[in-house]
Amino acid sequence: MLAQLWHQSRCRILTVIAASTLLACTTAHSAAILEGERMSPVVAKEGMVVTSHFLATRSALEVLKEGGNAVDAAVTAAFSLAVTQPRSGNIGGGGFMLISSEQEDEVVAIDYREKAPGKATRDMFLDAEGNADSTLSRYSHLAAGVPGTVAGLAMALKKYGTISLRQAMAPAIKLAAEGFVVTPRFSDGLKDKKAMLKKWPSSAAIFYKPEGSFYETGDLFVQKDLAATLKRIAEHGVREFYQGKTAELLVAQMAAHGGLITMEDMKNYAPAIRRPVHGTYRGFDIYSMSPPSSGGTHIVQILNILEGYPIAQYGHNSAATIHLMAESMKRAYADRSLYLGDEDFVTVPLKGLTSKDYAAQIREKIDMDKATSSSTITPGNPLPYESDETTHFSIVDKYGNAVSNTYTINFSYGSGIVVQGAGFLLNNEMDDFSAKPGVPNAYGLIGGEANKVEPGKRMLSSMSPTIVKQQGKNFLVTGSPGGSRIITTTLQVIMNVIDHGLNIQSAVTAPRIHHQWLPDVLRIEEGISIDTIKILKEKGHAINQQAAMGAIQSVMIKDGMMYGGADPRRSTSLAAGL
Ligand code: DON
Repeated sequence: MLAQLWHQSRCRILTVIAASTLLACTTAHSAAILEGERMSPVVAKEGMVVTSHFLATRSALEVLKEGGNAVDAAVTAAFSLAVTQPRSGNIGGGGFMLISSEQEDEVVAIDYREKAPGKATRDMFLDAEGNADSTLSRYSHLAAGVPGTVAGLAMALKKYGTISLRQAMAPAIKLAAEGFVVTPRFSDGLKDKKAMLKKWPSSAAIFYKPEGSFYETGDLFVQKDLAATLKRIAEHGVREFYQGKTAELLVAQMAAHGGLITMEDMKNYAPAIRRPVHGTYRGFDIYSMSPPSSGGTHIVQILNILEGYPIAQYGHNSAATIHLMAESMKRAYADRSLYLGDEDFVTVPLKGLTSKDYAAQIREKIDMDKATSSSTITPGNPLPYESDETTHFSIVDKYGNAVSNTYTINFSYGSGIVVQGAGFLLNNEMDDFSAKPGVPNAYGLIGGEANKVEPGKRMLSSMSPTIVKQQGKNFLVTGSPGGSRIITTTLQVIMNVIDHGLNIQSAVTAPRIHHQWLPDVLRIEEGISIDTIKILKEKGHAINQQAAMGAIQSVMIKDGMMYGGADPRRSTSLAAGL
């Protein structure tokens, strides 16, 4: 019965949206939307919200409706996702937010990535034999970095928003206190992670029924402890989370289970304002996340390499295009392994890596007909030019602001550990550090010295919230979860729009590919033709068709209209506009 209710109300929203799509079709043109296309984006004029959960989309849309700006709506969406999508929405993790204001003509990035605790050491994840112990870095209290989400969202609201924290958090508090109806995805997720979550009594008490059975589709899911935590933060501000009762609960949990986070670590946590990485691609301006994410650097690097080829002419997902993408990706991920880390601790040769000259050097090494084996690729030398769950949402308002936000607790349900009495999951982001040089993290990513564990350092990320501008105007707002695949997923939506002229829904939905240098495998989604795969194999690529990659929630703005593309790879995704 309840299941039917959520389904019906969701369909009502979609119906309203579909009607406005038809109206708007007549005014839009070119890549924005064409009559007769197989897939159509949601169309609006006054505001657009695209998130991976329809309840978060609705909460944020209400904020826009009441005159709030994109940052207000973003903070509301983020807190709502922390309730409705605990596998990735969070207050126990961290992330990055890009904010573009057309009025100010500036794009800023808020870095609220988690930090290593003060007592963290380089070798904290090595066993007695000196081998990396992934259970420690992924499933123990040592796995958690000092959470940044609450501080980051509060900073965004204070600097760029117009409503109070209390107002922005109200919908999330209501959803936690009154509950929401369980979807199939929600129920399935908890069944999948039973072993990990039931291991900890504090987690089992939240995610499974008192008699131990599962929440099924249609059940009501209430989170009393989380509601109380959110209420405390709304009433007493960000200090509550970092110095008040919530901090005390988190630190008590650490002390009882051999974790490292102290009250001092919590008090010392501060988000940072960063300058996003900037590059250009065929006349468009690309802004994406700078270190401690590797995302922006490598999206710009790969685009720079590909700009030298007539990609549109080679065609969307043709063998020639995929080959060139894979060859470019390999080189970029090789560089990632050596150069990228937290710039507060290491010098990243950002200018070199993102320069057009360096891209030209790399192009010279790419053979049009033959895949280069990853074993022969090593990180390049850009220095001469130097002087499995996360969630993304994209929001634009009528004032010319755009927000692109990706935040995470790393894995689905993070470390699996709920803070006793506080009702939220702890991240396992420490696994994104290099436990040992050359040993891959959970996403197979290799790192080195630049990404070693150090106290107070932020672990390297791939999260790539991105905003593309055209002649000073916001044009594309995009980003995705997907671990190492975030960079390549985001890259492909940019290319699908700019090179291949796809509308944003088609660009988001189209089958994707991924190469990350090591392992030397070209991963593809279902939907790449057998003929294309055959040609790619002949060129020497090892092809592996696997599960769908990413969940890229995007908005495109063209001729005064906003087009929303929600990723169907997440069944709860919803784009909705005003
Ligand atoms: O920051 C990172 O790159 C990872 N911790 C993100 C993890 C992720 O996207 C998992 N999602 N599917």
